[in-house]
Amino acid sequence: MTTIALYNLKGGVGKTASSVNMAYLSAKEGMKTLLWDIDPQGSSSFYFQVKHKVKGGIKKILSPDTDPEDLITATDFENLDIITADQSAKGLDLLLEEMQTGKKRLKNALSRFSKKYQIVIIDCPPGLSALAENIFFASDIVLMPMIPTTLSLRTYQMVKDFFKDRDLDLSKLMCFFTMVDLRKNMHHEIMDQLFKDKRFFSNYIPYLSDVEKMGVHLSPVEAFAPNSYAARCYSDLWDEIREGL
Ligand SMILES: Nc1ncnc2c1ncn2[C@@H]1O[C@H](COP(=O)(O)OP(=O)(O)OP(=O)(O)O)[C@@H](O)[C@H]1O
Ligand SMILES: [Mg+2]
Repeated sequence: MTTIALYNLKGGVGKTASSVNMAYLSAKEGMKTLLWDIDPQGSSSFYFQVKHKVKGGIKKILSPDTDPEDLITATDFENLDIITADQSAKGLDLLLEEMQTGKKRLKNALSRFSKKYQIVIIDCPPGLSALAENIFFASDIVLMPMIPTTLSLRTYQMVKDFFKDRDLDLSKLMCFFTMVDLRKNMHHEIMDQLFKDKRFFSNYIPYLSDVEKMGVHLSPVEAFAPNSYAARCYSDLWDEIREGL
């Protein structure tokens, strides 16, 4: 089982759009895929139009006594299941702080899914916290969508510093550019600068209205616009990520 967390300290950078499209592509390739929506906004769950299922509060997700099947909902797509989120996911961060069980708790919870799934994709909330530390420890790749702006350079450095402070394996951190607008000089300059960094995938996601339309169609891009440029961009990026696994 390979776990990929779509993460950024910043909000609104395309974590959910990427999680939904990558989970879809993984499942389409025939990989048993689990999308874990950890964000209280429940946006991934919304895109797949599944009802929130995890009853009994957030503690149930971490409890070793919970049957994993009680947490999972099937989507309309073959090979693709989801753990939904709602507002109660806010409590996960507090719970991990309170438990003071360090960074391994989420990894233990995830290990229950290793027999059933080949790929787990985690749609993370923004922020740096006990939850982020647990997610980083549990994941094989921490995949950071990044809009090529100067502010992103700062958050990128903050995330790398967090990895170092918490003694996490920095080689897990990989990035790709998203919402790219090549009419902007700044986007060009920052991409040129960061492509020298081995941590960046060469494929990127431009700013495209078909990605925004996911909110209208409530589905991954490839499911409603299979021949679109947006679908090809996600597919090329996913191929590059998969090659590196
Ligand atoms: N490549 C893109 N081109 C155009 N719009 C995009 C692109 N990627 C994401 N969006 C739009 O930008 C908004 C934010 O995207 P998304 O919800 O994926 O970000 P997020 O990082 O998950 O946000 P949050 O931090 O709130 O969870 C959404 O309206 C989405 O449709
Ligand atoms: Mg999101």
